[in-house]
Amino acid sequence: MRRMSSLQFLEILQRTLNKIDSRLVNHGEKVGYIVFVILNSMNKFNKDDIAEITLMGILHDIGAYKTEEIDDIMEFENSDVWFHSIYGYLFMKSLSIMKEKALPILHHHLPYSNYKERGLLDDDLAGLIYLADRIDVVLVASNVEVCLGWIRQNRGTLLSPYWVDKFFALPDYEKLLNKICDQSYRESARKMAATLKFDYDLIESYLTVVACSIDFRSEYMILHTITTVNVSVAIGKRMGLSEEELNDLYYGTLLHDIGKISTPISILEKPGKLTDEEMFIMKQHVVETRNILEGSIHQDVVEIAARHHERIDGSGYPQHLKLADLTLPECICAVADIVSALVQERSYKNAYDKERALGIIVEMDSKGLLNRDVVKEVVENFDEIMMETETSSKETMEAYYAIQSEYQILIDKYTNIN
Ligand SMILES: [Fe+2]
Ligand SMILES: [Fe+2]
Ligand SMILES: [Fe+2]
Repeated sequence: MRRMSSLQFLEILQRTLNKIDSRLVNHGEKVGYIVFVILNSMNKFNKDDIAEITLMGILHDIGAYKTEEIDDIMEFENSDVWFHSIYGYLFMKSLSIMKEKALPILHHHLPYSNYKERGLLDDDLAGLIYLADRIDVVLVASNVEVCLGWIRQNRGTLLSPYWVDKFFALPDYEKLLNKICDQSYRESARKMAATLKFDYDLIESYLTVVACSIDFRSEYMILHTITTVNVSVAIGKRMGLSEEELNDLYYGTLLHDIGKISTPISILEKPGKLTDEEMFIMKQHVVETRNILEGSIHQDVVEIAARHHERIDGSGYPQHLKLADLTLPECICAVADIVSALVQERSYKNAYDKERALGIIVEMDSKGLLNRDVVKEVVENFDEIMMETETSSKETMEAYYAIQSEYQILIDKYTNIN
């Protein structure tokens, strides 16, 4: 990813996580920060380990976007925490470069009393994430004193003694909790973020996890992002975009629907036509996409992502831009989004075959809605574009199938734990 710092990457993650539910605001950031402080106080981990585990702390609830069980996350004791734990683990394992190192996400709600039977050691990182997670949840509902009492009380039952002792070994653990409570931790969290260094492979793979986890919220959106990305790139290559433009097109398309994180599932999955009010909410997703990305990624990428519903005659949204205002990569992403929606099933339609899909695109073109050069490219090379898309989507598609089948296995294995 060109021109993206680790800090900007974390900002995007944080803004995305914060869109899901106001009660979860900054939960991932606080958990990541507590994890970071504890790891840093020990002489056991190097810089790269600390960066990676902190990131795991920030993203530990990523599976909650699939399951919408925010109510459960905010409760103390709940046996339904497995759904998001399993999805989060599978997203990270199958879609990121983290692979099996993502296991602590699976176990981040496992009570310490179950560690032995599940083969976990006392110092398993799941225990650290769980401790940090509970600290935030308890603090949101009470105060520092109650929280400290709660930690002591649950040492050895819910919480691993290993991590509780590391927490109490911090010279200023009380101050840490106070900082979490009054939000002043944010300044330190920013400084922390600036010290974490992530390489581009990791950033790319984690952005893919976040973008794809949004597709998982609705069964009709699965593969939408990855299909759109590959259609975009296939068109872009044919139209002679430079390396840099292709790179921007890749990321702009990857992140184009990231704002859908805050669109209710009932709207995403509604069979049939949306009411005016629902349509208004649906259209907000591009505004949210801009809010999440702006300032943290190159502006060309922001515009590609946030303008994918603009139409060249000004009838699109949200800014009603016209052909002269739009760049070629922006127009390509818009067309790729339509192609991808047409060839896939939706809650309101079946997957269309080539003839029907092209018929609709040509009709939109004749109404003056789409960039004519892009449409021409798609019409003339439809088979090749779709074939290339299928090949480049294969890996992600297999990862999706693996997630679905492994989910069933894990849910049977874990949901009997209380
Ligand atoms: Fe969780
Ligand atoms: Fe959590
Ligand atoms: Fe969209």
